[in-house]
Amino acid sequence: MSDLLKKAKTVRVNAHAPYSNFKVGAAVRSVDGNDFVGCNVENAAYPEGLCAEAGAIAAMIAAGDRQVKEICIVADSTQLITPCGGCRQKLAEFSETDTVVLVANLSGQSLQRTVGELLPDSFNPDRLGPL
Ligand code: THU
Repeated sequence: MSDLLKKAKTVRVNAHAPYSNFKVGAAVRSVDGNDFVGCNVENAAYPEGLCAEAGAIAAMIAAGDRQVKEICIVADSTQLITPCGGCRQKLAEFSETDTVVLVANLSGQSLQRTVGELLPDSFNPDRLGPL
């Protein structure tokens, strides 16, 4: 198992998911070679919950890195999960189309995709043209 996947598994334990009982962990490796983790953080006001991927991406940005090289996402699910639509968009902001997305469960199953496969023809910063 890659060390990034291990980090996603480890942080998943800290998720705050009392409403869904569905804990998720994410670990991002930036192109600068730094790793950042996040877990889902739910809220009694349900729509205010935060996905694990969003937390990991926010940690990367707060630390000053700007580009995702790879992201691993782990949940305890029989069917492998993939990032929600909002997180695909958040990833596209800081990724290339060939950025690797690895999803896994606790049984050892995994699936690898790219950001371009998960969100083809995305609306991304390039679409805005020169600012
Ligand atoms: N969730 C994530 O954190 N990442 C995903 O990729 C899918 C869903 C969270 C949101 C919510 O806290 C719980 O999982 C159930 O949807």
